[in-house]
Amino acid sequence: MSSETILKGRVLGFTRCPFEGDPADTARLDEAVLIRDGHVVRTGAAAELRSASPEAQVEDMGEAVITAGFVDAHAHYPQTAMIASWGKRLIDWLNAYTFPEEMRFADPAYASEIAGRYLDLTLSNGTTTVASYCTIHPESVEAFFTAAQSRGLRAAAGKTCMNRNAPDALCDTTQSAYDDSQALLETWHGVDRLSYIVTPRFSPTSTPDQLSAMGALWAEHPDCLMQTHLSEQPDEVDWVKSLFPEARDYLDTYEAHGLLGARGLYGHAIYLEPRERDRLREVGAALVHCPTSNTFIGSGLFNMALAKAEGQRVGLATDTGGGSSFSMLRTMAAAYEIGQLTGTALHPAQLYWLATAGSAGAMHMDDKIGNIAPGMEADLIALDLASTPAIAQRAASAEDIWEAIFPTIMMGDDRAIKAVWTGGRRALG
Ligand code: GUN
Ligand code: ZN
Repeated sequence: MSSETILKGRVLGFTRCPFEGDPADTARLDEAVLIRDGHVVRTGAAAELRSASPEAQVEDMGEAVITAGFVDAHAHYPQTAMIASWGKRLIDWLNAYTFPEEMRFADPAYASEIAGRYLDLTLSNGTTTVASYCTIHPESVEAFFTAAQSRGLRAAAGKTCMNRNAPDALCDTTQSAYDDSQALLETWHGVDRLSYIVTPRFSPTSTPDQLSAMGALWAEHPDCLMQTHLSEQPDEVDWVKSLFPEARDYLDTYEAHGLLGARGLYGHAIYLEPRERDRLREVGAALVHCPTSNTFIGSGLFNMALAKAEGQRVGLATDTGGGSSFSMLRTMAAAYEIGQLTGTALHPAQLYWLATAGSAGAMHMDDKIGNIAPGMEADLIALDLASTPAIAQRAASAEDIWEAIFPTIMMGDDRAIKAVWTGGRRALG
């Protein structure tokens, strides 16, 4: 028997991308949304949906804004327990904090404890889909997918592959990286709402041979995503140049090994040369902006306005635990601040779009998630625009929906997430 639910509130969807034309003019506001069998059927006037579906269960969210759940296009769930580790920049931060923590994921019990903790934290922050790195341990991938599956989530992840410039206990080999990734892919890709991502960590921690093996695996499974890091810090870019003297630039270390494509997710992508920008745009690859990470680890300023003006595909992400938050609200706030420092005030509609439809597009899932429209999966949140006194008093004088949402973007946290639905089922609130 099919189950129907009507959610009442201020139902907010996008009619188009707010980076083209007037961003303020991209919202579609309705009184209610009808959900059936985990999908959005339609939005409209509450009375109309009610009379068309009299059997539907009604949940009234009052003044809350109902939107698509947030999509985090780049995170490291294994870094949950070492988030906010003090005082270092990328390479030292990896060696001092990240690698020791990731070693603990050889223990399946620890991996499943952290996977569950991570997904509970992200859900309570309104994130309904993430693209996560795991560790080199197949157990860490099993733990993540098992935890996501039991929560009914659309989720994507992959075994992080690395075979050099890391502690021995965190190095696989070219062959084991290929074999383990392939076995995990065959076990999990396409099961329920889960998908496997081919995941070479970044060029400094893979030999050319391993990068080629990852490229071959991706070519054999072209419907999979591929994720890696690109040009995050100047020292890292220099290191890549010294490790790959024959490469034209950092991106070329991926391109030469079959690791450049439309379904590629390139985290950070701050220090790009013109050739790299051209190639990324030509193939339709995704640049994933991780603003709290870029300020926290001291990486630098991603130029969102330039990337969008060039026609790049761009997603937004926490990069937990290089990023200092699990919250896509906090991430939007940081993106706004970095926009200010690079000369463009991003409109609230642009920020919200990046955190939902934009990231879904980066993951090639924007036909399924990231917006409220007929046929989309019902991964939704109810956002309280008055979750603290400071936010409430500012939102009270707002003259339109975007001005009302902006204080929550800038000052909101998990208290603003009043309810979460995954696949049409209430997951929180
Ligand atoms: N580059 C390679 N690995 C990582 C990581 O775990 N976090 C970040 N921010 N950058 C990386
Ligand atoms: Zn990362």
